[in-house]
Amino acid sequence: MSPRPLSLQDKLVQTGRPAKIDGRHVNLPIELGSTIVFDTLAAFEAARDARYQTGTMYYGRYGNEASFQLEHALADLDCADGVTLTSSGVAAISLTLLTFALPGKHLLVADNVYANTRAFCDKVLTRHKVRVEYFDPMLGNGLVGLITDDTCAVMFEAPGSGTFEVPDIPAIAAVVRKAGIPSIIDSTWATPVFCTPLTLGVDVVVASCSKYLSGHSDCMLGMIASRKAYHDQIRATVMAVGDKTGGQEIFLLLRGLRTLKVRMEAIDTAGREIASWLAAQPQVKRMLHPAFDSCPGHAHWQRDFSGAAGLFGVVFHPCSDDQIRAFVDALHHFGIGVSWGGYESLVLPVKPTRTGNRWDEDGQLVRFNIGLDDIGTLKADLAAALPLLNS
Ligand SMILES: Cc1ncc(COP(=O)(O)O)c(C=O)c1O
Repeated sequence: MSPRPLSLQDKLVQTGRPAKIDGRHVNLPIELGSTIVFDTLAAFEAARDARYQTGTMYYGRYGNEASFQLEHALADLDCADGVTLTSSGVAAISLTLLTFALPGKHLLVADNVYANTRAFCDKVLTRHKVRVEYFDPMLGNGLVGLITDDTCAVMFEAPGSGTFEVPDIPAIAAVVRKAGIPSIIDSTWATPVFCTPLTLGVDVVVASCSKYLSGHSDCMLGMIASRKAYHDQIRATVMAVGDKTGGQEIFLLLRGLRTLKVRMEAIDTAGREIASWLAAQPQVKRMLHPAFDSCPGHAHWQRDFSGAAGLFGVVFHPCSDDQIRAFVDALHHFGIGVSWGGYESLVLPVKPTRTGNRWDEDGQLVRFNIGLDDIGTLKADLAAALPLLNS
């Protein structure tokens, strides 16, 4: 009888550590180190020649046993041929773009990407003479009309940061693949628990591991998962730039993976319950939560995702900025701060930046991150603050 295939939960428990543990701790230790020494010059030279390859012990900056285990684990979860770790999610995005966006080339970027993706494109790539064009994230197949002979890559997000449109991932991936250039998706929101974009035809997945993957707001890391065709190229950029992940962060991320599915499922349930409750409040105009049909691309989410993260937007009926400030300040169980994907709930007003297509929703947009707090406590907190938005 062939062995039962491992479920996602089994993988999360078993991955990234030796298959057989005998008389040792179940977790790999925190691995720190710079110099690695060899018995012979020939062994040193062999390691030097293969230093960009996952698994080659050469020098601390190129990785160690723990980082290689983590890269294998993440590749397995994302159905990738290879993963390269980076020091943050922003490093994963910028180093991937740097690999493909050459001077004189044209880069297509979805208009709803994370603010720092936009900042890297506008502040760095344009200085290197890359022509960055922002496109309507809901364009789908229509993207074909924007791809030129000079286009070097297409970068998008699912769902988009702040405004939560869910693009047609397979349609975009197919059009880009046909053009012979890489499609790059930021899939931080979904994690491999809810979506594996590489199985939908995307070439490169970038993610911030500082969010759900590590899950406890105590670790900054990023990852780049890709098909073989692009893996070596991207890894060479990361290694050449000298980006480096720390031993403690690697330990924390491996630990976070063990509970990833359990956390994502709890957060999905809590997020949808709070969002359903909010949707029924008179101050709410529209929910921008991918699991709600008021969210652009909801049908794409239904088709391509198996769950929803706890980060979503709420458009409140038009009111003043001062009212929004008073509402946010009145919430005692939602922290005010950037990032998301930890155990704590967060709130932040959002003013979307658009240069390709307008975001002309009439109302005030507020982003919520539902963490692992008691759902009743969060509802009571919101119920007490919502009247501050009344006209
Ligand atoms: C969608 C998205 N991608 C990437 C990042 C950047 O990740 P990091 O904070 O690990 O650099 C963020 C951070 O908020 C994000 O929201």
